[in-house]
Amino acid sequence: MYGGDGNHSYAKNSTYQRGLLDAATKIIEEEIATKLEIPTSSKHFCIADFGCATGSNSFPAMHAIIKDVKQKYKSAHLKTPEFYVYFNDVVSNDFNTLFSSLPPNRGYEVAAVPGDFHRCLLPPSSIHFAYSSCSLHWLMEVPKAAEGLKSPCRSGGEREEVYEGYLGQFERDLESFLKCRALEMVEGGIMALLIPGVPTYWDPQREFTSVSLAELLRSSLLDLTKKGRLSETKLAKFNLPYFFPTPEEVRVVLEKSKSFSIERMEILKSAALLSIDGYVACFRAAHQNMFSHKFGAETVDEIFDLLKMKLQTFPVFANPCNDKSIVVVAILKHSNV
Ligand SMILES: C[S@@+](CC[C@H](N)C(=O)[O-])C[C@H]1O[C@@H](n2cnc3c(N)ncnc32)[C@H](O)[C@@H]1O
Repeated sequence: MYGGDGNHSYAKNSTYQRGLLDAATKIIEEEIATKLEIPTSSKHFCIADFGCATGSNSFPAMHAIIKDVKQKYKSAHLKTPEFYVYFNDVVSNDFNTLFSSLPPNRGYEVAAVPGDFHRCLLPPSSIHFAYSSCSLHWLMEVPKAAEGLKSPCRSGGEREEVYEGYLGQFERDLESFLKCRALEMVEGGIMALLIPGVPTYWDPQREFTSVSLAELLRSSLLDLTKKGRLSETKLAKFNLPYFFPTPEEVRVVLEKSKSFSIERMEILKSAALLSIDGYVACFRAAHQNMFSHKFGAETVDEIFDLLKMKLQTFPVFANPCNDKSIVVVAILKHSNV
């Protein structure tokens, strides 16, 4: 299981996600106001964040959700419940940083839930609101067809074997995630998923996406292998363990679920707007533990220096407005449909 890069320093790069969070928060606020069923039989309200990292983006999200839920209780003339927030991430995540930076006077109790979110992690029917931001594109494993750093591509409208492998793995992983959450969530509970993705089409001469950046990273790894700087044997079974879906690809999986109904789906423009150095820093934060574990810590500088050089070679990356990456926001309701 890959599960991202648990100890990475997202805090350093988190400001770029704030714009995204603000837009998503607005959608969540409207959905809580209109769709959330107040659990009248319970004095507490439980929220879980799946893939919380070290908390820098999770805390403002949890704060906003709790504010909206409190408002909903107030409008219904009900007493404010006690709030509990469960922070989930992979076992190697830096939960110490998360717990030592918890906001003071936050008004909720907390617990860490380390483990793979493709498995059940919480007691049955215990969660009223589930949240996951920028985490579900990480795959449980690299598909066999993609090993050896093969590129997932569509040619002439056809999806090739490597692309199919990645898409299949993404679908299976998202299905497992939904099945587990269906057991853990109360009937009527709401789930907000923010999934980084790409549009169906972009013009590579004038535009780029996260897929374009991942492609340059692959090409950097391949170049360094040819130069003998990375082990060919290690690369033979390796590839990047994530997949950026189109909104349609996300919708297909969500619509298949018998436990959740889609209440709303929105496409937000990625709020990245980063310089080349910003993209390199962001990619480095997300990959460096994985690369130093796989290829050795001494290779990391070289990999990202080469990535930076490649980004500088193509004028398209110089203007952040050319970044067409998106984030799919899906609001689901647990309803055993
Ligand atoms: C890009 S970070 C997103 C962090 C935060 N949610 C945000 O919006 O900034 C992705 C996080 O998902 C976690 N993650 C990836 N796969 C996971 C899995 N299978 N189980 C639990 N956490 C996972 C990673 O460890 C990482 O902390």
